[in-house]
Amino acid sequence: MPMLDGSGPIDQKLPNSQIPQTQRFREFQLDDRVFVVTGGGRGLGLTMAEALIEAGATVHCLDWLEEPDDEFGAAQKRANPDFGGSLHYNRIDVRDSDNLDSVIGGIAAKYQRLDGLIAAAGIQQVTAATEYKVEDVTKMMEINYTGVFMTAAAVARRMMEHGCKGSMVLVASISGFVANKGLISPVYNSSKAAVIQCARNLAMEWGPKGIRVNALCPGHIVTPMVLKNFEKDPSLQKKWEKENFLGRLSQPEEFRGAGLFLLSDASSFMTGSSLVIDGGHTAW
Ligand SMILES: NC(=O)c1ccc[n+]([C@@H]2O[C@H](COP(=O)([O-])OP(=O)(O)OC[C@H]3O[C@@H](n4cnc5c(N)ncnc54)[C@H](O)[C@@H]3O)[C@@H](O)[C@H]2O)c1
Repeated sequence: MPMLDGSGPIDQKLPNSQIPQTQRFREFQLDDRVFVVTGGGRGLGLTMAEALIEAGATVHCLDWLEEPDDEFGAAQKRANPDFGGSLHYNRIDVRDSDNLDSVIGGIAAKYQRLDGLIAAAGIQQVTAATEYKVEDVTKMMEINYTGVFMTAAAVARRMMEHGCKGSMVLVASISGFVANKGLISPVYNSSKAAVIQCARNLAMEWGPKGIRVNALCPGHIVTPMVLKNFEKDPSLQKKWEKENFLGRLSQPEEFRGAGLFLLSDASSFMTGSSLVIDGGHTAW
């Protein structure tokens, strides 16, 4: 039997020709697993959450939006019951760590398990460094760094309590690696560098418990966050498109595979890494 606890390795004994058709790519299957996706009320988090439910998982999206985006309801309607997965919503602010801990504890208690996390909640602010206000720096770091860290810690605590192994994805950005040309958001970029380093440290700390932690580092994606930037400065789109080899921005759907790969046994030997998906933006 394959090891379906995220710790791998999967069983390689059966030759592919003998595996029933329904079990092909069984290392990507998430049946019965339970995940938390912060920032899952819309955008990249929601898109990756939908990929997880298609692979059979139960997913709780946590977001500070009073109501999730219309796309959330659409994703729930699209969910094919035959796949076995389901999508749920809890309203939280990742800065409220007590509430975060209690909501995550409630989810784990309900299913008597917790198998991992996508931490996608984040904000961005395009402001020149000389104009930045201290309260804006604090807010950015509280959400983009402390919020991610406290979410990961709360999820790990419950995974350990329930004896679950599994995987976490901390959504960083290529802006954590390079000074992203044309994106004047010095604090956002620094917060993403912190998330990349956080993933490495948590991977080291929790590896022995069978909990893997990786950072996902996307290039520019057309999401509500980025559309807000274009409203303020429509010239940004063309500028950013020129910065990668494919000459275009990405769509959230282009990260579905990455989310599934990172949370499933398909990535069972991967931890402490940063997966860069950026159309070649950082390759030159
Ligand atoms: N869009 C891009 O180009 C891009 C590129 C690289 C990385 N990212 C990262 O991907 C992640 C998702 O971003 P997106 O582009 O989908 O943006 P988005 O604004 O559409 O989604 C972010 C989500 O986080 C939620 N959120 C923000 N602050 C929160 C808080 N305090 N508590 C709970 N929820 C909160 C928002 O309500 C929203 O639903 C972010 O971490 C972002 O930094 C985005």
